[in-house]
Amino acid sequence: MPSATTDRYMKVDFYRHNLDDACIASLVGATKQIFISTGPKTQEFEAAFAVYLGVPHAVGTMSCTHSLYLAWRALKVGVGDEVIVPAMTFVATIEALMLTGAAPVFTDVDLRSGILDPAAVEEKITPRTKAICPVHLYGTMAPMDRFRAIADKHALLLVEDSAHCVEGRGPGFAPGALSDAAAFSFYATKNITCGEGGAVATRHAEVAHKLKLLRNHGINRTAIERFNDKVSGYDVEESGFKSNMYDLQAALLIPQLAKIDVNYARRAAIVQSYNDAFKDAGLILPYVPPGHKSALHLYTVRLPDEQKRDKFMVALTAQGVGCTVNYRPLSSLTFFHTQLGMRDEDYPHATAIGATTVSLPLYPNLTDDEVAYVIDSVRKTARNVL
Ligand SMILES: Cc1ncc(COP(=O)(O)O)c(C=O)c1O
Repeated sequence: MPSATTDRYMKVDFYRHNLDDACIASLVGATKQIFISTGPKTQEFEAAFAVYLGVPHAVGTMSCTHSLYLAWRALKVGVGDEVIVPAMTFVATIEALMLTGAAPVFTDVDLRSGILDPAAVEEKITPRTKAICPVHLYGTMAPMDRFRAIADKHALLLVEDSAHCVEGRGPGFAPGALSDAAAFSFYATKNITCGEGGAVATRHAEVAHKLKLLRNHGINRTAIERFNDKVSGYDVEESGFKSNMYDLQAALLIPQLAKIDVNYARRAAIVQSYNDAFKDAGLILPYVPPGHKSALHLYTVRLPDEQKRDKFMVALTAQGVGCTVNYRPLSSLTFFHTQLGMRDEDYPHATAIGATTVSLPLYPNLTDDEVAYVIDSVRKTARNVL
């Protein structure tokens, strides 16, 4: 288990994973099966994940990037289609879409939550619009009920980027419940992780079927089906990709899903301590709309301007507290302004968030002493910088 305090530079790492003995035992057990690729463990995880979300189907993949790409392909979004996406997200949301040939239509976000703004989305709809892709930023769900109404009104598809949001819920809805597909990440820093991994949840049996085909080269009989049926033949129904979750990933995820509420409770306690300690520190604290349960993936605070934010980060880092920016706005990144013509001034809220935001350590195995150290350092630094 990596240590926060040995000979490392950071006193409190920005992130440390939480793979425990149960995960390691499960992984070792999986290595002793015949199937180490997609087999019974993947099926077990998919079934448990679907139950956890309360959505009928979950399909395991290599990553959220793969999940998003497969979801667009399964829904036949591609060349000639426009998809409305937020200007504040991680680059993967856009890359996966562009790989299909569809055009991203960047749209500004709500200033308090950083989440795609339904009113701004309606203004971007054209006859070529095929879909909307809300991102559940930091773990708080987008207003999916409002996006559902917009999608119904204009006959659009809805795909959720739920990379940050396994445990998050809106008032009466979970990721995957109101959309055509929701894509999840099990990357190294996510709330449940297998290093790299992902899944798609969907209400639609035909989309789940298509995803399973597409994640395996378009092959219509999986290796385990061929093994069980003692038949070696298969057909390729369409051009797919290689994106399948495999059993070693699933073996790491299954025990984490079983204790997801315990780890959530620990993060919630840390968030409560941070919120209490920072309420008079002059920082803008994370916003969770009424009626929502955030997945509490990232704890992001905002400072008044970019100069103060940068000073704050330098000072915190010097005290050994890991921190990072989630995210620099897409319009500030070279590819997006030189190749796609994005301009900061067209996305004032995303630009303002990107210039002022900083994420602090938040993970279940932060010790009480580390939480206290983060709190002291943040309060002291805020006093000096503000
Ligand atoms: C919002 C968002 N979407 C998509 C991804 C891509 O996830 P993955 O690394 O599993 O492909 C990430 C990764 O951090 C993300 O933050």
